Amino acid sequence: MKAAIYPGSFDPVTFGHIDIIRRAADMFDELIVSVLDNTAKTPLFSVEERVKMLRDVTKDIPNVAVESFQGLLVDYAREKDVHVSVRGLRAVTDFEYELQIAQTNRLLSKGRLDTIFLTTSLEYAYLSSSSVKEIASFGGDIGPCVPPEIAERVYARYRSGSVRPEMEEQHG
Ligand code: PNS
Repeated sequence: MKAAIYPGSFDPVTFGHIDIIRRAADMFDELIVSVLDNTAKTPLFSVEERVKMLRDVTKDIPNVAVESFQGLLVDYAREKDVHVSVRGLRAVTDFEYELQIAQTNRLLSKGRLDTIFLTTSLEYAYLSSSSVKEIASFGGDIGPCVPPEIAERVYARYRSGSVRPEMEEQHG
Protein backbone atom coordinates (compact mmCIF):
# COMPACT_ATOMS: atom_id res chain seq x y z
CA MET A 1 0.00 0.00 0.00
CA LYS A 2 1.59 3.28 -1.16
CA ALA A 3 0.64 6.35 0.82
CA ALA A 4 1.64 10.00 0.58
CA ILE A 5 1.13 13.11 2.64
CA TYR A 6 0.13 16.44 1.11
CA PRO A 7 1.03 18.99 3.81
CA GLY A 8 0.14 22.67 3.81
CA SER A 9 -1.61 25.58 5.44
CA PHE A 10 -4.73 25.44 3.24
CA ASP A 11 -5.98 28.79 4.57
CA PRO A 12 -8.28 28.36 2.68
CA VAL A 13 -8.18 25.43 0.25
CA THR A 14 -8.21 26.64 -3.39
CA PHE A 15 -8.90 25.04 -6.77
CA GLY A 16 -5.11 24.78 -7.12
CA HIS A 17 -4.89 22.58 -4.01
CA ILE A 18 -7.87 20.49 -5.13
CA ASP A 19 -6.20 19.92 -8.50
CA ILE A 20 -3.07 18.62 -6.76
CA ILE A 21 -5.16 16.46 -4.37
CA ARG A 22 -7.05 14.79 -7.24
CA ARG A 23 -3.94 14.08 -9.26
CA ALA A 24 -1.94 12.80 -6.26
CA ALA A 25 -4.86 10.63 -5.13
CA ASP A 26 -4.72 8.95 -8.55
CA MET A 27 -1.06 8.06 -8.02
CA PHE A 28 -1.19 6.68 -4.49
CA ASP A 29 -3.39 4.15 -2.67
CA GLU A 30 -3.90 6.67 0.11
CA LEU A 31 -3.37 10.42 0.24
CA ILE A 32 -3.34 12.12 3.63
CA VAL A 33 -3.96 15.84 3.29
CA SER A 34 -2.41 17.31 6.44
CA VAL A 35 -3.09 20.80 7.71
CA LEU A 36 -0.22 22.36 9.63
CA ASP A 37 -1.37 23.57 13.02
CA ASN A 38 1.13 26.40 13.32
CA THR A 39 0.77 28.59 16.37
CA ALA A 40 3.30 31.10 14.97
CA LYS A 41 0.96 32.15 12.16
CA THR A 42 -2.34 34.01 12.42
CA PRO A 43 -4.57 32.16 9.99
CA LEU A 44 -7.97 33.29 8.75
CA PHE A 45 -9.46 29.91 9.69
CA SER A 46 -8.74 27.68 12.66
CA VAL A 47 -7.13 24.35 11.95
CA GLU A 48 -10.46 22.59 12.68
CA GLU A 49 -12.23 24.83 10.15
CA ARG A 50 -9.57 24.17 7.53
CA VAL A 51 -9.79 20.41 8.09
CA LYS A 52 -13.58 20.57 7.77
CA MET A 53 -13.43 22.60 4.56
CA LEU A 54 -10.92 20.17 3.05
CA ARG A 55 -13.13 17.21 4.03
CA ASP A 56 -16.13 18.91 2.40
CA VAL A 57 -14.38 19.52 -0.90
CA THR A 58 -12.74 16.07 -1.08
CA LYS A 59 -15.67 13.95 0.10
CA ASP A 60 -16.06 12.38 -3.35
CA ILE A 61 -12.45 11.08 -3.39
CA PRO A 62 -12.48 7.80 -1.43
CA ASN A 63 -8.73 7.43 -0.85
CA VAL A 64 -8.22 10.91 0.62
CA ALA A 65 -8.06 11.45 4.38
CA VAL A 66 -7.75 14.88 5.98
CA GLU A 67 -5.90 15.43 9.25
CA SER A 68 -3.86 18.08 11.02
CA PHE A 69 -0.37 17.95 12.45
CA GLN A 70 1.85 19.95 14.74
CA GLY A 71 5.62 20.20 14.78
CA LEU A 72 7.93 18.77 12.17
CA LEU A 73 6.60 17.11 9.06
CA VAL A 74 9.30 14.42 9.30
CA ASP A 75 8.11 13.38 12.78
CA TYR A 76 4.49 13.26 11.68
CA ALA A 77 5.40 11.26 8.55
CA ARG A 78 7.43 8.80 10.64
CA GLU A 79 4.47 8.26 13.01
CA LYS A 80 2.27 7.55 9.98
CA ASP A 81 4.96 5.41 8.33
CA VAL A 82 4.66 7.50 5.16
CA HIS A 83 7.73 8.22 3.05
CA VAL A 84 6.47 10.62 0.39
CA SER A 85 5.43 14.23 0.68
CA VAL A 86 3.58 15.84 -2.23
CA ARG A 87 3.81 19.54 -3.03
CA GLY A 88 2.51 21.62 -5.90
CA LEU A 89 4.84 23.85 -7.92
CA ARG A 90 3.10 26.80 -9.50
CA ALA A 91 5.90 28.84 -10.98
CA VAL A 92 9.63 29.30 -10.73
CA THR A 93 9.05 31.67 -7.78
CA ASP A 94 7.95 28.68 -5.67
CA PHE A 95 11.07 26.74 -6.44
CA GLU A 96 13.55 28.02 -3.86
CA TYR A 97 11.09 27.81 -0.98
CA GLU A 98 10.02 24.31 -1.99
CA LEU A 99 13.56 23.11 -2.57
CA GLN A 100 14.54 24.29 0.89
CA ILE A 101 11.66 22.41 2.54
CA ALA A 102 12.30 19.27 0.50
CA GLN A 103 16.05 19.23 1.17
CA THR A 104 15.56 19.96 4.88
CA ASN A 105 13.06 17.12 5.17
CA ARG A 106 15.38 14.68 3.42
CA LEU A 107 18.20 15.70 5.73
CA LEU A 108 16.12 15.58 8.93
CA SER A 109 14.62 12.21 8.01
CA LYS A 110 17.99 10.74 6.96
CA GLY A 111 16.61 10.15 3.49
CA ARG A 112 13.39 8.49 4.64
CA LEU A 113 11.06 11.33 3.58
CA ASP A 114 11.19 12.28 -0.07
CA THR A 115 9.21 15.02 -1.79
CA ILE A 116 7.56 14.80 -5.18
CA PHE A 117 6.36 17.88 -7.00
CA LEU A 118 3.34 18.13 -9.23
CA THR A 119 3.23 21.09 -11.56
CA THR A 120 0.02 22.97 -10.94
CA SER A 121 -2.39 22.98 -13.86
CA LEU A 122 -1.85 26.17 -15.85
CA GLU A 123 -5.20 27.73 -15.03
CA TYR A 124 -4.24 27.70 -11.33
CA ALA A 125 -0.60 28.67 -11.72
CA TYR A 126 -1.06 32.11 -10.20
CA LEU A 127 -3.60 31.18 -7.57
CA SER A 128 -2.73 31.36 -3.88
CA SER A 129 -4.61 31.34 -0.59
CA SER A 130 -3.09 34.77 0.15
CA SER A 131 -4.48 36.33 -3.01
CA VAL A 132 -7.88 34.71 -2.35
CA LYS A 133 -7.93 36.42 1.06
CA GLU A 134 -6.80 39.75 -0.32
CA ILE A 135 -9.42 39.71 -3.10
CA ALA A 136 -12.19 38.71 -0.66
CA SER A 137 -11.13 41.33 1.89
CA PHE A 138 -11.77 44.01 -0.75
CA GLY A 139 -15.07 42.46 -1.81
CA GLY A 140 -13.72 41.04 -5.10
CA ASP A 141 -14.91 37.89 -6.84
CA ILE A 142 -13.16 34.73 -5.60
CA GLY A 143 -15.53 32.47 -7.56
CA PRO A 144 -12.78 31.50 -10.05
CA CYS A 145 -10.41 30.56 -7.20
CA VAL A 146 -12.35 28.41 -4.70
CA PRO A 147 -15.49 26.21 -4.64
CA PRO A 148 -18.74 28.06 -3.78
CA GLU A 149 -18.99 26.64 -0.23
CA ILE A 150 -15.47 27.87 0.54
CA ALA A 151 -16.14 31.29 -1.01
CA GLU A 152 -19.18 31.66 1.22
CA ARG A 153 -17.12 30.95 4.33
CA VAL A 154 -14.34 33.35 3.32
CA TYR A 155 -16.78 36.20 2.63
CA ALA A 156 -18.59 35.48 5.90
CA ARG A 157 -15.32 35.74 7.80
CA TYR A 158 -14.58 39.16 6.30
CA ARG A 159 -18.17 40.32 6.73
CA SER A 160 -17.95 39.53 10.43
CA GLY A 161 -15.31 42.26 10.58
CA SER A 162 -13.06 40.31 12.92
CA VAL A 163 -10.13 40.08 10.52
CA ARG A 164 -7.45 42.49 9.48
CA PRO A 165 -5.86 41.14 6.28
CA GLU A 166 -2.48 42.68 7.14
CA MET A 167 -2.31 40.40 10.20
CA GLU A 168 -2.43 37.26 8.12
CA GLU A 169 0.45 35.14 6.98
CA GLN A 170 1.93 36.01 3.64
CA HIS A 171 2.93 32.77 1.95
CA GLY A 172 0.53 30.39 0.22
O1 PNS B 1 1.02 25.76 2.50
P1 PNS B 1 2.37 26.14 3.06
O2 PNS B 1 2.21 27.13 4.19
O3 PNS B 1 3.32 26.62 2.00
O4 PNS B 1 2.98 24.78 3.68
C1 PNS B 1 4.25 24.76 4.32
C2 PNS B 1 4.46 23.43 5.08
C3 PNS B 1 3.30 23.14 6.00
C4 PNS B 1 4.60 22.30 4.09
C5 PNS B 1 5.80 23.56 5.87
O5 PNS B 1 5.82 24.79 6.52
C6 PNS B 1 5.98 22.45 6.91
O6 PNS B 1 6.04 21.28 6.59
N1 PNS B 1 6.03 22.86 8.18
C7 PNS B 1 6.14 21.95 9.30
C8 PNS B 1 7.43 22.23 10.07
C9 PNS B 1 8.61 21.53 9.44
O7 PNS B 1 8.61 20.32 9.26
N2 PNS B 1 9.66 22.29 9.08
C10 PNS B 1 10.87 21.74 8.50
C11 PNS B 1 10.84 21.87 6.99
S1 PNS B 1 11.20 23.56 6.52
